[in-house]
Amino acid sequence: MSTKILIIGACGQIGTELTAKLRATYGVDNVVASDIRKLENDVVKNGIFEVVNALDYNQIEHLIEKYQITDVYLMAALLSATAEKNPAFAWDLNMNSLFHVLNLAKAGKIQKIFWPSSIAVFGPTTPRDNTPQYTVMEPSTVYGISKQSGERWCEYYNKQYGVDVRSIRYPGLISWTSPPGGGTTDYAVDIYYKALEDKKFTCFLSENTGLPMMYMDDAIKATISIMQAPAEKIKIRSSYNLSAVSFTPKEIAESIKKHIPEFTIDYAPDFRQAIADSWPASIDDSYARTDWGWQHDFDMERMTSVMLENLAKK
Ligand code: SER
Repeated sequence: MSTKILIIGACGQIGTELTAKLRATYGVDNVVASDIRKLENDVVKNGIFEVVNALDYNQIEHLIEKYQITDVYLMAALLSATAEKNPAFAWDLNMNSLFHVLNLAKAGKIQKIFWPSSIAVFGPTTPRDNTPQYTVMEPSTVYGISKQSGERWCEYYNKQYGVDVRSIRYPGLISWTSPPGGGTTDYAVDIYYKALEDKKFTCFLSENTGLPMMYMDDAIKATISIMQAPAEKIKIRSSYNLSAVSFTPKEIAESIKKHIPEFTIDYAPDFRQAIADSWPASIDDSYARTDWGWQHDFDMERMTSVMLENLAKK
């Protein structure tokens, strides 16, 4: 059976680039992009697009039948900072969209699921440096609680019902094509916009707050590669630690100054500081590297060059 893909949440920060890459890889006719809203963007214009509410089981089932979908990438979610402002809706969206897709797989209507988890599954009692795959996990944010619970359910559906669900714990993701929304790691995207526009940036995290980060191309590569790996190589069915680079606001500012010497940064930590403080500073992702051959391409300097170059053109 040939691969037919449905992306739910295709217009978000990850979905936008994932959709383009999946269309290029599998062919435009084999990829259905969907989102709650129809925007005027490349996701909508460059291929098949459907409006779908990730909380509506029947709508998702209808699309799966209409296009004979085999693989679903569920990218719709409320991120950490937004979820703190609307806990009940975040829990509803993040959990029930996952249950819908897991249950469609359990019913045999789809073959394979990608569902993203996050560094937010870890909490203040987790070892912060080189955080292991298996360790204390006591997330303190609504987003983190939903991702941790989701991981448990993914593993459960895999073990009990044989559902082929695959997941990675994304670090903070940096990209220039479409803006992130509502995350704690988003400062590391905004800083590039402000460096080009204003030559100065006020950071909502303090200067020495280290967090795991990754350039979007690496994240997309990881996503497609875990989905293409033979099932037996995916030994972890909760979610894989995944890592590329780790840096602090001060360090990213230094890397920007190499390109824009007059750039300055100051710090005004807000409620997101506590979220960042509860997350790892760096991640041990050796299981992903061993099990399905993960390796990253972008370090911080390369990421800064690419971000500044592309945003300047934009
Ligand atoms: N980037 C996300 C956030 O900050 C973490 O998964 O919420």
